[in-house]
Amino acid sequence: MKAIKEEIRIERAPVSKITEVDFNNLAFGSVYSDHMLVCDYKDGAWETPIITPYQPITLDPASKIFHYGQSIFEGMKAYKDSNGQIWLFRPLDNHKRFNISAKRLAIPEIPESHFIDGLTTLLRLEKDWVPTTAGSSLYIRPFMFASGKGFHASPADAYKFMVCFAPSGPYFSGKVKVLIEETYSRSANGGTGYAKAGGNYAGQFYPTQLAIAKGYNQVIWTDDNTHEFIEEAGAMNIFVRINDTLITAPVSDRILDGITRKSILTLAQDQGITTEIRKISVTEVVEAAQNGSLKEMFGAGTAAVISPITTFGFQGVDYDLPELQHSYATSLKKQITDIQYNRSEDKFGWRFKV
Ligand code: PLP
Ligand code: COI
Repeated sequence: MKAIKEEIRIERAPVSKITEVDFNNLAFGSVYSDHMLVCDYKDGAWETPIITPYQPITLDPASKIFHYGQSIFEGMKAYKDSNGQIWLFRPLDNHKRFNISAKRLAIPEIPESHFIDGLTTLLRLEKDWVPTTAGSSLYIRPFMFASGKGFHASPADAYKFMVCFAPSGPYFSGKVKVLIEETYSRSANGGTGYAKAGGNYAGQFYPTQLAIAKGYNQVIWTDDNTHEFIEEAGAMNIFVRINDTLITAPVSDRILDGITRKSILTLAQDQGITTEIRKISVTEVVEAAQNGSLKEMFGAGTAAVISPITTFGFQGVDYDLPELQHSYATSLKKQITDIQYNRSEDKFGWRFKV
């Protein structure tokens, strides 16, 4: 990796807010650390990032982010081990995916040096913000948007890349009930579903609100063409276990190539679990739930980690998943978090020392 030419300048916050944070009761993504990273793209080039106190930013009302939604983000976590060492999990994959998203949204790609040096410099400064309470971590939100202005519907000429941190507890606080969607679509062939574009999430909010009103937490999206096949959930990829086989949908134009998803597939295959990457029809899942061969369903993602689904709803009927003593979800969650928190051998070279 090429280093950034100049050193990242740090403008320190006069006082820290850390004493105001209850690290024993952390919600997800709702308190932010003392500093943030900002990097501007102007005149065809990325400038050297700077670190400033966490604060509001000023944007021109004509900035294209407000009008045309040119905005992408990533989701990562930093973990602290029992010696106080901080680790990231496969961060180069996040950088790669960030640039895949950037390209799709006609945003200039950001060099690996700016992304990795930027967030590791910020992490070293904010090391006390990485929680050590069980199940907690420092959620990292890199994002990039059009700050350049103009009402012409075309890409902006200026962008901001920023990184903020939020010490966070679990994404879901209780049981996870999902609704299999039959009407709305999250993405379509040729669309932006594979990118982490802000607009993909905005488009999910209304159908998700309808599902929440019916008592569910998340929607499981089905393919936009037929609504016959399960794709992914609002903020996570989906796995189903039928008998002893672990199945997940193939990634495509419409589905995010989740880093947790591919790590789970590697871990499962490594221990001899039969895995299948193939289309999963809603009919197959409903029939498996009815005949008892559907053993588990879980979501996988950075924020969600591995979140077992307790119930899925389809066409007005709720199907409860059994409570297993030895579930794949529990075992795989332990294995992946043991690697993330440096509690086990890192056989696949996924840990990244900060
Ligand atoms: N799918 C969607 C739509 C997501 O927002 C996320 C979260 O990042 C995922 C899947 C899981 O991806 P990852 O495991 O890389 O966090
Ligand atoms: C993540 O898992 O990091 C995500 O980006 C999901 C987000 C919508 C909370």
